[in-house]
Amino acid sequence: MKGVILAGGLGTRLHPLTKVTNKHLLPVYNKPMIFYPIQSLINAGISDILLVTGGNNAGDFLRLIGNGKEFGLKHIDYTYQEGEGGIADALKLAEYFSAGEKIAVMLGDNIIEKNFKKAAEEFRKQERGAKIMLKEVPDPERFGVPVLDGDRVVRIEEKPDNPKSKYAVTGIYLFDNTVFDIARTLVPSDRGELEITDVNNVYIERGELTYDILDGWWTDAGTFASLNRATNLVVKTGANKL
Ligand code: DAU
Repeated sequence: MKGVILAGGLGTRLHPLTKVTNKHLLPVYNKPMIFYPIQSLINAGISDILLVTGGNNAGDFLRLIGNGKEFGLKHIDYTYQEGEGGIADALKLAEYFSAGEKIAVMLGDNIIEKNFKKAAEEFRKQERGAKIMLKEVPDPERFGVPVLDGDRVVRIEEKPDNPKSKYAVTGIYLFDNTVFDIARTLVPSDRGELEITDVNNVYIERGELTYDILDGWWTDAGTFASLNRATNLVVKTGANKL
């Protein structure tokens, strides 16, 4: 299974910080944000990684990460997303790299305490479909939120005003290669983006979506409050054996 980190977008919620650099290059305590998802994929047993970047200062990723040697990688791939067409738009750029294999996708601003190795191993054995990682949060309205019927996810709602569960869909997604066919059928949402939630809802309609609850703490880092929270969590508990 190959790994894809999505680190495009303009990070406008972090202006003025992101006027002069890319969100994923900002510090989370003593490391640039992008180091955390790279290490998380490696901790999940994935070492063939594509980094999708975009927006400002894309060249700085190369200076920072190089060929991935610091992470024990032999090599890391890069590509560039034009504009800010959404998470599923950025994902489309990974089709060639995936070469027909399953992929583990992680959003570049997601930081986790532990790892998702067990879920990745389970997904390797899952015949087809997708697996998402859920986490209970105090503010589900900020995220994709699963609607549950018993222990079955029947739908995912993106940033609902009235969340139907206490869970967030985290930015860790395991997909089979049909994800690229699904991405081609998407239309932009009200916020003008191709939504990853629409991708997951197709897998639900097909009856091919499984999920796991993520171990340890999880946070995004795309707003001032969550960036601060991410830093505090990393300071307090350490993360990712970085
Ligand atoms: O963090 C988890 C949440 O991420 C999920 O619960 C939501 O369902 C999902 O839509 C997403 O929500 P956000 O609105 O917070 O995503 P954001 O626009 O902040 O983008 C998250 C990362 O995705 C960002 O750090 C880089 C990547 N991205 C985003 C966009 C819009 C791209 O690579 N390209 C893009 O065009």
